[in-house]
Amino acid sequence: MIDLKTQYAGLQLKSPIIVGSSGLTRNPSKSKELEEAGAGAIVLKSLFEEQIEIQANQISDPNDYNPEAEEYLRLYMKQNHLQDYLDLIKRTKEVCTVPVIASINCYKSDAWTEFAAEMEKAGADALELNLFFLSTDLTHNGPLIRDLYIDVIKRVRQTIKIPFTVKMGRNVGNVTALAYQLQANGADGFVLFNRYFQPDINLKTIELIPGSIFSRPEELYDTLRWIAILSGKIPHVSIAGSTGVHNWEGVAKCLIMGASAVEMCSAIYQKGAGVITESLEGLSKWMEEQNFHNIAQFKGMLDASKLPNPTIYERHQFMKYYSNR
Ligand SMILES: Cc1cc2nc3c(=O)[nH]c(=O)nc-3n(C[C@H](O)[C@H](O)[C@H](O)COP(=O)(O)O)c2cc1C
Repeated sequence: MIDLKTQYAGLQLKSPIIVGSSGLTRNPSKSKELEEAGAGAIVLKSLFEEQIEIQANQISDPNDYNPEAEEYLRLYMKQNHLQDYLDLIKRTKEVCTVPVIASINCYKSDAWTEFAAEMEKAGADALELNLFFLSTDLTHNGPLIRDLYIDVIKRVRQTIKIPFTVKMGRNVGNVTALAYQLQANGADGFVLFNRYFQPDINLKTIELIPGSIFSRPEELYDTLRWIAILSGKIPHVSIAGSTGVHNWEGVAKCLIMGASAVEMCSAIYQKGAGVITESLEGLSKWMEEQNFHNIAQFKGMLDASKLPNPTIYERHQFMKYYSNR
């Protein structure tokens, strides 16, 4: 009998496939369908800092109101946007039995902790923090960015008791050092990686256009590398592999590299909820063939700490592949 249960960031999951934060989880009945297809947890669509700011800034002409009334209206609009999100958490919790993870996409360290507390009260089982500091300022250096992250993480840890994870971008510099510090300051897990908007150019009109919103399976390779490095270097780290997980092979590979779970998004958009069922069936079949009964038997088998030469994930590989060609 194959056991697909896994522990991720303090949550017990019935399967290692988590539905990634997106419009897929905007509707509780859709989330239920994804749970029935086998998802081990649901990450709700993010509440974006800008959504609230923009909505609050849209209160027509400020001259129509005295400053006190304007302030009241701004607060009212912020709270109502938040209220919609809290309702989504409650309604999803009513229909789903798997953990429901709320998601915040933020870039300032002050406004968010109070929302995190409200989400916990509304019943979220965990929180995924999508910190978006895409730093391009010439005066921003590594330590400054690291301190911004740590500041947010400390505040959130002081505010909520439920587990929270950090969804990281590839652009954070030294992923390992940052994750190590964030774990030391209270983060319960990491999602590797977030996939940002991809800018492209229409060469006929010479205009900026969006690149593909969906990932391709080949994008998994870099995800695998970093899971292996992080898992090998940080004791007891909890990782969800994300970006490029499209099938059972992607799930198995992330787990072998040391992830506790994966987050899937593009594949579900493109193939429907059935891709979760198919991936779990494929994973179970492969485990049976390999004589594994549970995930613990192969999780992290190839993380950086298990290899005689862990630089295979770093410089070694580069030399081997390019020096003779
Ligand atoms: C249509 C769409 C909407 C998304 N919305 C969010 C979001 O609200 N918050 C978030 O953190 N990530 C969001 N993402 C990113 C996904 O959660 C995920 O990190 C990314 O697509 C990479 O995973 P994948 O390769 O399985 O698609 C979105 C992705 C897509 C395709």
